[in-house]
Amino acid sequence: MKDFKCNVFNSLDLTGQCALVTGANSGIGEGVAKGLAEAGANVVVNYVSSEDRAAKVVAEIVAKGGKAVAVHADVSNENEVQEMFRQACKEFGSIDILVNNAGLQQDAAFYELTIAQWQKVIDVNLTGQFLCAREAVREFLRRGIKPEVSSAAGKIICVSSVHDIIPWAGHANYAASKGGVAMLMKTMAQELASQKIRVNSVSPGAIKTPINTSAWDTPEAEAALLKLIPYGRVGITDDIAKAVIWLASDHSDYVNGATIYVDGGMTLYPEFREGG
Ligand code: BGC
Repeated sequence: MKDFKCNVFNSLDLTGQCALVTGANSGIGEGVAKGLAEAGANVVVNYVSSEDRAAKVVAEIVAKGGKAVAVHADVSNENEVQEMFRQACKEFGSIDILVNNAGLQQDAAFYELTIAQWQKVIDVNLTGQFLCAREAVREFLRRGIKPEVSSAAGKIICVSSVHDIIPWAGHANYAASKGGVAMLMKTMAQELASQKIRVNSVSPGAIKTPINTSAWDTPEAEAALLKLIPYGRVGITDDIAKAVIWLASDHSDYVNGATIYVDGGMTLYPEFREGG
């Protein structure tokens, strides 16, 4: 029993691995970057704007004894993504873990949705995940397995959303992008498992971050939101970080192509508690 506990602890330890987290200057990405650093990983804090926020995340990790570096790149730009991976590998030797987190919303009623709003959300949320995953996989295959740190050659965690399965009126571009992430993730998982690369998703529900402030920042808004969350609280970024750390670690070594809904039960059709 004692040995089992010891193994559990060891397999959650990410020391000696490097994690690249996209969109890590705020919200879920920031929480995940800090969590991975606490688990022992060296962290690349990607950002596209707010350089000062990215520098603050790095400073906070370093102050706690971790290692981190901020690297700028627009994840929807192929050249910038390739340059980011070059910089990351130069800094930390290689990349072992990619957290495909960068994402945004540009909401509109369906009949008013512009091609620019559609394209921007697809470019960042879906094409961005493809471009970063492709560079990560190239690096995983180049480097191969380092048995002293992990049984896998690399791990990719796609941060998706409950809206990869729940349709969302007024957010057709966002829901379509996340539905795309779900199949991108599964297809990568199927294709790359034999090369010992694990690909999984974490699909957050309502997490308190800047992307959805208006959904929880007044008592009325929070009460309305809680009707959709059986567990009775709005999520925090640590809820997501803990699931990501598990998926990045060998603790989840046999988990491939899975989506973990970290949503307090939002995907359980809560309105059916009183209906149907
Ligand atoms: C969205 C948030 C929303 C949550 C639950 C997330 O993917 O980005 O704005 O609150 O889903 O609906």
